[in-house]
Amino acid sequence: MTKKTYQVYEHRFEGKVLLVTGGASGIGKSTAEKMARQGADVIVVDMQMSGAEAVAKNIRELGGNAFAFQADVTDPKAMEAAVAFAEEKFGALHLAFNNAGIGGPAGLLADIDIDGYRKVIEVNLNAVFYGMHAEIPAILRAGGGAIVNTSSILGIVGEATAVGYVAAKHGVTGLTKAAALGYADKGIRINSVHPGYIETPLLKNMSAEARELLISQHPQGRFGTDEEVADAVAFLLSDRASFISGSQFLVDGGYTSH
Ligand SMILES: NC(=O)c1ccc[n+]([C@@H]2O[C@H](COP(=O)([O-])OP(=O)(O)OC[C@H]3O[C@@H](n4cnc5c(N)ncnc54)[C@H](O)[C@@H]3O)[C@@H](O)[C@H]2O)c1
Repeated sequence: MTKKTYQVYEHRFEGKVLLVTGGASGIGKSTAEKMARQGADVIVVDMQMSGAEAVAKNIRELGGNAFAFQADVTDPKAMEAAVAFAEEKFGALHLAFNNAGIGGPAGLLADIDIDGYRKVIEVNLNAVFYGMHAEIPAILRAGGGAIVNTSSILGIVGEATAVGYVAAKHGVTGLTKAAALGYADKGIRINSVHPGYIETPLLKNMSAEARELLISQHPQGRFGTDEEVADAVAFLLSDRASFISGSQFLVDGGYTSH
């Protein structure tokens, strides 16, 4: 009997340059490290420079190529500079993961602070626009590529006490669809990823009761891991997802199937 050989999905990003926002922590860090292990050259963008540097250094020590870049994603000029930095360091930009985000103010609509609402819209929604606005011309210059934007289960369903976050993440879903339609015939696939609750520093202030309740709302009976989201993002950014554009890719343990 001849021995079967299995294709290993390693090095599928050889020669590709990836920019990740929110790359210093959680889902962004995990995705930067995973895709670097699979051959991507990575620009780790975050406002926390020490965290971004640590991720880039770790990638380099493992034999990959990465640089950190400090930027506040709510500053369009900073995002243009991040893209220019990618082109300067690696010669092109092919792939982008617009992922930086924050939790918004908690409470019913009439009770939440207006500045807190504006902030979460700026970071979680408008910054995705600023990111794509800077990235798309570079990806076109590189001859095409792919973008993933981080939405959430709260970009698909509502939550009464997360008004700003829900509005921002639904906005990311729509922005992604519009951008995907605009560039589908120009060689750029654009999708959104929708994680359920994921064990990252973003959840660090959650009470034990809230945790227990939220875990019970996930049919798999647990929170997800940053690694599980990173796997989905890497797939969407790879050529294996060549006919996937404008989709809402759920990584939620069944949460939104209720
Ligand atoms: N953890 C979850 O349960 C969960 C669920 C659904 C969606 N998400 C989304 O996933 C994304 C990543 O979240 P995470 O859980 O990895 O959180 P995290 O807090 O571990 O990482 C977020 C990163 O974004 C960076 N960041 C925040 N604001 C920034 C800004 N203005 N400019 C530049 N960098 C900024 C932070 O410094 C941090 O490194 C977010 O968009 C979040 O809304 C998270």
